[in-house]
Amino acid sequence: MQEKIKQLLEEVNAFQVSIEDDLESFKRKFTNKKGEINQLFGEFKALPGDQKKLVGQTLNQLKTRATERLNEFQASLKAQSVSSDRPHDLTLPGDAHVQGARHPLTTVLNRIVSIFERLGFTVAEGPEIEDDWHNFSALNFPDNHPARDMQDTFFVQRNPDYLLRTHTSSVQVRVMEDSEPPIKVLSPGRVYRNEAISARAHCFFHQVEGLVIDKGISFADMKQTLQYFSSEIFGDQARIKLRPSYFPFTEISAEMDVYWGLETEDDYRITKGTGWVEIMGCGMVDPNVLRNCGIDPEVYSGYAFGMGVERIAQLLYRVPDLRLYSQNDIRFLKQFERIG
Ligand code: PHE
Repeated sequence: MQEKIKQLLEEVNAFQVSIEDDLESFKRKFTNKKGEINQLFGEFKALPGDQKKLVGQTLNQLKTRATERLNEFQASLKAQSVSSDRPHDLTLPGDAHVQGARHPLTTVLNRIVSIFERLGFTVAEGPEIEDDWHNFSALNFPDNHPARDMQDTFFVQRNPDYLLRTHTSSVQVRVMEDSEPPIKVLSPGRVYRNEAISARAHCFFHQVEGLVIDKGISFADMKQTLQYFSSEIFGDQARIKLRPSYFPFTEISAEMDVYWGLETEDDYRITKGTGWVEIMGCGMVDPNVLRNCGIDPEVYSGYAFGMGVERIAQLLYRVPDLRLYSQNDIRFLKQFERIG
């Protein structure tokens, strides 16, 4: 009898069903009242008492296994019929896709670039990991200038000759080294500074810098270009103001403010009570920089400017905290759905 039980167990394990009829034959053969397992239970009763315990155990195992298999077969046939009962209905509307929004920094960056493109600027890009020459030395930073300090610059640990660029002026050096004037380029991109992250500062941000070099370029050309840019981005009424400043790579240097007004409390905070906000640095390219890049300052002159994209976006969209730009919070990003 043990032999018979073992054989049936093998058959139960090997049984396959693919249609309802198979399931019926499984039941008929094994699990129905008249099935083989029940018959064995009948024979079992007639066994002598000393064999009952052992045979009883294996017989019960067989019964349990057969019930398990039966359940499996029923479930798999049911799953099959669910999918075949509901053929694909091609006329049903598709699942809606969640529509993404362009990141506000991308939108603003694209706007800035397109304004300058209308003035004939082309875009130049360069590496984010720079060498000291392109980020500092060629730009007339003295060896002991504080901007080279560990405080501001992320240096590459294994070779501190390399660093994460602190501004995209490095790209302008590359352009001047590689091409002849006239030059009219824009260098947008990400830059890095070793700052503690807060609402007003971040360890990376985005810049757009511009460079124009030709014969007879003057400060007035720069002012005109920047006025045009400001009117395009902030509206026709935009007023600008150039304040004297200092950068190692420009002489003379200035910072440009736009008039923001003092209507709301926010305006007081943004403009520190002056009504004006600073949006960029600019100036006439220092003759030393031209010389460093192989351009004769006796023949050519030029101007450069650089602005932070986060700052412009903050003004346009009234973003109160710089960190929002890089947190990828969908509630923040969703607000720009219809702007980009
Ligand atoms: N490179 C400067 C900065 O990162 C900005 C600037 C560019 C200033 C060009 C003057 C001229 O702050």
